[in-house]
Amino acid sequence: MTASRVDLTVRVGPLRLQNPILLASGTCGYVYELAAAVPVQRLGGVIPKTVTLQPRAGNPPPRTVETACGLLNSIGLDNDGIDHFLDHHLPRLSTLGVPLIVNVAGKAPEEFARLCERIDRVADVVAAIELNLSCPNVAGGIDFAVRPELTEGVLRRCRAATGLPLIAKLTPNVTDIAAIGQAAEQGGATAISAINTVLGMAVDWRRRRPRLGAGLGGLSGPAIKPIALRCVWQLCRAVSCPVIGIGGIQSIDDVMEFLVAGATAVQIGTATFYDPACAVRLVDQLPGAVAELGATSVRDIVGSLRFRQ
Ligand code: SIN
Repeated sequence: MTASRVDLTVRVGPLRLQNPILLASGTCGYVYELAAAVPVQRLGGVIPKTVTLQPRAGNPPPRTVETACGLLNSIGLDNDGIDHFLDHHLPRLSTLGVPLIVNVAGKAPEEFARLCERIDRVADVVAAIELNLSCPNVAGGIDFAVRPELTEGVLRRCRAATGLPLIAKLTPNVTDIAAIGQAAEQGGATAISAINTVLGMAVDWRRRRPRLGAGLGGLSGPAIKPIALRCVWQLCRAVSCPVIGIGGIQSIDDVMEFLVAGATAVQIGTATFYDPACAVRLVDQLPGAVAELGATSVRDIVGSLRFRQ
């Protein structure tokens, strides 16, 4: 099979994406800043920073710390709120020519539903909603992906509020992510994205203080890739909806590992910080890697892992 003939399109529920490479929320700003330098219209989709109902000032600095092979962050969902997003960011985002997935977080199921209602009114320019059920950096009941019944409850409220595809973004900081995935699907999730960051900590022993202003933070980057792969594989065995892989993806080998393990698409996160064009480069490299397996389409290799117990 020649690389030029490989079909890169994938389906996430009713969504047809030109390829499976997406930009992850929180790592590409509001995308149009990046679009000045990177041809984002070549990607499968983009997901701007989480939006909440009210503006949030975020956590005290320092908010990021580099670790041996990953990035620790505790931003605290800093954003200007849904009104500002709809008035100022959306008009620019909607001209980029790439499917837009809006990521939202609420303090309660009702807030998630209200956010979905607001976005449903602009459904003509939004491809899907990603529900951030899993930010590790905010206090006050925002992590809804730690108990199946909470996850299902949020999904049910949101499903009633919008006809848009719903992607439930899950945390790895649980005992059984498969059970949480099943609850999300039961509640009406179109797809699941996994994983959000792994809860971690960095310590300045000389000052006897945590390095992050908030104390704890979420670890991303290459360090978490094996955890993410394990979660994606477990989820794919437990649910029938598509799973979108996230976690330390920076090379075409990483992309292929997630696809073979079962991910229908992947999100590029931390890698964009040190190589803004990383995701587009991966789109260029994908046909060659798929052809190397003798396949004619990305869909043929999704979940083709031969796993022996
Ligand atoms: C943050 O804003 O603290 C990170 C967002 C997330 O991990 O969901």
